[in-house]
Amino acid sequence: MRADRCTASSSISSFPELPFRGEHCDCVVSHNVLECLVDPSALLRDVARVLRPGGRAVLGHTDFESIVVAVESRDLTRRVLQTYADLPVLYEHMAAADPWMGRKLAGLVRRSPLSLESVRAFTTVHAELSEARSARLDEVMTAVRRSAERGLGSVTVSEVDEWQEQLCTARAAGEFFFAETAFVVVASKP
Ligand SMILES: C[S@@+](CC[C@H](N)C(=O)[O-])C[C@H]1O[C@@H](n2cnc3c(N)ncnc32)[C@H](O)[C@@H]1O
Repeated sequence: MRADRCTASSSISSFPELPFRGEHCDCVVSHNVLECLVDPSALLRDVARVLRPGGRAVLGHTDFESIVVAVESRDLTRRVLQTYADLPVLYEHMAAADPWMGRKLAGLVRRSPLSLESVRAFTTVHAELSEARSARLDEVMTAVRRSAERGLGSVTVSEVDEWQEQLCTARAAGEFFFAETAFVVVASKP
């Protein structure tokens, strides 16, 4: 059961109870959901409730501050990516935004009723602008632009345009690079 699909009876600000009786599931998978929750520990408590003893939870999260991009201006790139990581304008599906959820996952699990089994990092790398754009970069740029348009974050709209041009210049020079890291925790129900 994907935790992010359990929205039917919920308000966005609090996580609903998962629609399963206690000790019903062998495995729960959740990816990129915990960052949006006002109380992420409540979801972990509910995951522990629905798992059978010995059942496993696989919890994954991209760390917003793990994005690495190679373009000409370091200062502008840092400010663009910092604006994205701070996400001053939330998406509709978010009641909160914790850009560090990836690096916090293991600690969150340690403080939950689950037992931490492993933590692994998965880095996605795109060495071509076209594949990075279809994969993720457009999402990043849209979020930063939305912030800039409202006068939030550390860049102006014209700086976002400039950064976009620098991405194209980097591609033309064969220097474009984009990477980001997700952390994946496996936990079990004692
Ligand atoms: C960043 S998206 C990730 C979507 C998907 N898991 C993925 O990895 O592509 C965050 C998801 O969390 C869900 N979500 C946020 N707050 C929620 C809540 N309170 N209850 C249930 N789902 C929630 C949203 O509906 C959205 O689908």
